[in-house]
This record gives sequence, structure tokens and C-alpha cells, in this order.
Amino acid sequence: MDDSNRLNRDFGVAGVRFVDGPAGLVVAEVVNGLASARIALQGAQVLGYRRNGEAPLIWLSRLAQFVAGRPVRGGVPICWPWFGPHAADARFANHGFARNAPWRVVRVTALVDGSTQLEFQLVQSAATRVQWPHAADLRSIVTVGARLAVELLTTNTGREPFVLGQALHAYFDIGDIRRATVSGLDGCEYVDKVDGGGRKRQRGSVTFHGETDRIYLATGNRCEIADPILNRRIVIASRGSRSTVVWNPWRAKADGMGDFGPEGWAGMVCVETANAADDMRTLAPGEQHRLAAVYSDAPL
Ligand code: BG6
Repeated sequence: MDDSNRLNRDFGVAGVRFVDGPAGLVVAEVVNGLASARIALQGAQVLGYRRNGEAPLIWLSRLAQFVAGRPVRGGVPICWPWFGPHAADARFANHGFARNAPWRVVRVTALVDGSTQLEFQLVQSAATRVQWPHAADLRSIVTVGARLAVELLTTNTGREPFVLGQALHAYFDIGDIRRATVSGLDGCEYVDKVDGGGRKRQRGSVTFHGETDRIYLATGNRCEIADPILNRRIVIASRGSRSTVVWNPWRAKADGMGDFGPEGWAGMVCVETANAADDMRTLAPGEQHRLAAVYSDAPL
């Protein structure tokens, strides 16, 4: 993992400071004229984002644990190179290893529109190659401005094709899950993970009445979370994705997970821009795939 002093020396851009966070995890703190954000180098994980003068858009658990090599509850974890449990080996981490691995900083740029862009590259190792023996380059490009944008660029640098599953596992900050709805998925078939993986079809907006864990298929490029408590809409615009995961663990499951905090589950929803289930991608040698999401909010 990179040292914060060296990062500040090598990537000194106004409004960006690398600090030593909990458990020695280095965090990039971004503050510009439009917004602020925190991004952990472990996992290149956005931990928080808020537009200036607005409430936080991204949810981070009050009990989030910062431990090297372990996932952090909340933010925008990067699931890669598989989504969910590993297909063949239960010892391998849920959602792949990218969110638990160190990333290096490639570039920090102040853009002309006042936003700040950071590019990260996944650091692969013998431990990651044991789990996924393919040659690939993974970059994450995070843009902190009037909107938050996250792009994942995967390039097959080897001689064989590989199959890729991934997701931008964004946790959004909402007033109360029992009052929130998600639109943009009407008519889509979904895999219902809380009902044995059965396939169902969405009618109208998604509403929440209990544990919800679904992979929506053949999805379009825009979803909206309507939040009548915080009186705002959160817009998720995506590219390179035809699957969207909607997740809230509800009370019992969240309590069992231990890192949600009391009632934490009620104040979050995950709407994940994915390449999962029927939407996994095969990348030929030399091929690149770009998965991207732009998160913004507007009054309801
Ligand atoms: C969601 C999955 O994307 O992530 C759920 O659909 C899973 O099944 C959830 O429980 C959280 O996963 P983790 O590994 O971060 O606890």
C-alpha cells in the first residue's frame, strides 16, 4: 500500500490530500468548489460523497470496520472479477478480491469544470492470481464534481478470453427504506435471491417490505431512487451494464452481519450497476470493457 507522504508529494493537486486512515488504510480526501469525497486506496472504494450544501449521497455504516484485506460496509465497493459467491470455490471472497486489495494511484487531475478526477489501478499479486488466473488490467476512474462518476475499465492483457462479472455496489443514503421506491426497472425480469433464485418480472416501481436481493436483467441505463423523507431523487445513469442489483438486508440479516449499526439498514439501499447473471461479459485478448455509473440528485 502506498504511503500518504509519498502520494502527497507525487500527486499534489489542489483540493486532494492523502491521509492515513484507520488501520493504516490510506484515504484520498477530495474537497473542491463543487463537492467533497473520500476514497480509500484499499479497493479504490469511494467511502463518501456529498455535493456542497447537500446531504451525503453515499451511505457508510457508522460501524464500518476498516481492516486491511476486509470489505468496508458502505460507500461504493467494487465487485470484480466476479459478482456474489465464487462459482466453484467457497473459500474465495464474496464479490471477488478487488474491493479487499490495494490499488495504486495512477493520476490525479483537476478538470476545467472544477471537478477532480482520480485514476486507480488494481495491484494484483500471487494471492489474487490463485483466485483468478487471467491477465487483466483494471482501472477505476472516479470523478468528484457536481455529480459523482465511477468508471471501471477492464482490459484483457493475456492470450486467452475470460469471463468477467462485476458491479459498482453503491450504497445510497436514504431517509427510510420503507418509504423509498426505485424506478427504471418496470417490466424487467429479475432473479429473486431471497426466493431461491426464482425468476420474476417487475411491475411498476420497486417498493420495499422485507429483505430484498434481486438481480434485474436486460435493464436500461437509468434508475431513480425516490426518497420522500429527504425529499430528493437519486439518479443512477449507467453505461456498459445490462443488469442492476437492488439490495436491502432488512433488520434481521443486517443485525446478523454485525457492521450495519442499529437501524443502519433502514437508511440505505444498494442499486448496483452490474455485469451479473446473464450479463457477464467475455473479453477476448486485447478487448476492453467499460462499466460506468454517474450518481446525482435532484429535488423530488
Ligand atoms: C449484494 C448481494 O450485492 O451484496 C447480496 O446481492 C449480498 O446477496 C450483499 O448479501 C452484501 O454482500 P457483502 O459480501 O458485502 O456482505
